[in-house]
Amino acid sequence: MFAPETYRDRRHALAQQIGQGLILLPGHDESPMNFADNGYPFRQDSTFLYYFGIDRPGLTGLIDAESGESFLFGEDYSLDWIVWMGPQTQLAEYSRASGGLTVKDPGDLSAMLGSDRPVHYLPPYRAEVRLQMAAWLGKNPAEVTEGASEALIQAIVTQRSLKSDEEVAAIEAAVRITGEMHLTAMRTARPGMTEAEVMAKVYQAALAHGQHPSFPIILSVRGEVLHNHHYGNTLSEGDLLLCDAGAQSPGYYAGDMTRTFPVSDRFSTRQKEIYQIVLDALQAGVQTLRPGLPYRESHLKSALTIAQGLKALGLMKGDVEEAVAAGAHALFFPHGLGHMMGLDVHDMENLGEDYVGYTDAITRSSQFGLRSLRLGRELAPGFVLTVEPGIYFIPPLIDRWRADGTCADFLNFDRIETYKDFGGIRIEDDYLITRVGARLLGDPIPKSVAEVEDIRAEALS
Ligand code: GLY
Ligand code: MN
Repeated sequence: MFAPETYRDRRHALAQQIGQGLILLPGHDESPMNFADNGYPFRQDSTFLYYFGIDRPGLTGLIDAESGESFLFGEDYSLDWIVWMGPQTQLAEYSRASGGLTVKDPGDLSAMLGSDRPVHYLPPYRAEVRLQMAAWLGKNPAEVTEGASEALIQAIVTQRSLKSDEEVAAIEAAVRITGEMHLTAMRTARPGMTEAEVMAKVYQAALAHGQHPSFPIILSVRGEVLHNHHYGNTLSEGDLLLCDAGAQSPGYYAGDMTRTFPVSDRFSTRQKEIYQIVLDALQAGVQTLRPGLPYRESHLKSALTIAQGLKALGLMKGDVEEAVAAGAHALFFPHGLGHMMGLDVHDMENLGEDYVGYTDAITRSSQFGLRSLRLGRELAPGFVLTVEPGIYFIPPLIDRWRADGTCADFLNFDRIETYKDFGGIRIEDDYLITRVGARLLGDPIPKSVAEVEDIRAEALS
């Protein structure tokens, strides 16, 4: 946990912003996998962590927005539990560590919520939380979701979007472990291994620090499947291996990086050409980063770089600016350039992607590709985000666009056809927006063609 004042000050700032009524912030319970005592790894709710910092199941937080008093509803573990779990931190101790909470019995919560004061809460995303809130609030589950407080969502997004120095340090700790995960992948992969064998080593690099990944590891020679969790293929000479993985810090802040490298010790000419375009797109996006710039502009700058590179290879044609405006590049780059990152790898996505990534002035596009950009709004100092362009050859998408003639003025389908077995390349780093520009988080790891080939040659020697 951070210092007690951190949590107290965050709660006071939120209470002042909301101004009236009660703010209900439920923590998580254990979540059963196949029977009650066999749970998924416990993961506390990130907003609860942000305001209370307590990593324990079975707790609910409540903030009185008028008096500023904060309550913690829960029970200390009985001896029956301690026999199985060992000695546990008392709620009174958590209360001190969290900056001063009034500890109350869970049975008292309904009565406090049942007064005629407004109750602000976030849209629940776990079914058991929705059901619990329905019981507390005397609503049915659908009404619970409809009744979520937009004012609370906006206030929390505003607060959590700006990372403090101690949060940046925590994120950077996660990114450093993340870098080790990627170095492990680059040093481990060999022809004949399965994706699962490499994935296990990458996972182990996080576990060795006592940390879990911040999201399910994507590691595949079929990098064109954007969220590929299969791990069943065997690595062969000539393949590209895409690894998208991140660790959590002890306080659950996330890292998220991607590297794509040859299973052989060198890229083929074709692989090197596409890799260099993705790297150029990453650098073009990074160069735009500064406060006040809408991140959508960074995305479009990377898209333009991709279109220019693919035109030079004869895969695209025509005016590249017109091609990007038409969304033609999205055949190869169908996702967004990046997303906010913090306590969640896609930070605060449970509060609603558009609240986090868009504003009244900058709204989400409906165009294929651009519509998947999670962050379009103007950047501000303290934002932490990913930059992750990619180029993929997705056979079913190519077939559909060709059959429909989609963006045919800008795409050379005969040549694209010859790349259908290529796979995909993504390169991703994490950045902090500063007062003057942006700073790479963590320690640089191999990224240029020469650096990647060097580490692969060393690994295979
Ligand atoms: N790293 C996975 C994603 O950003 O969706
Ligand atoms: Mn990402």
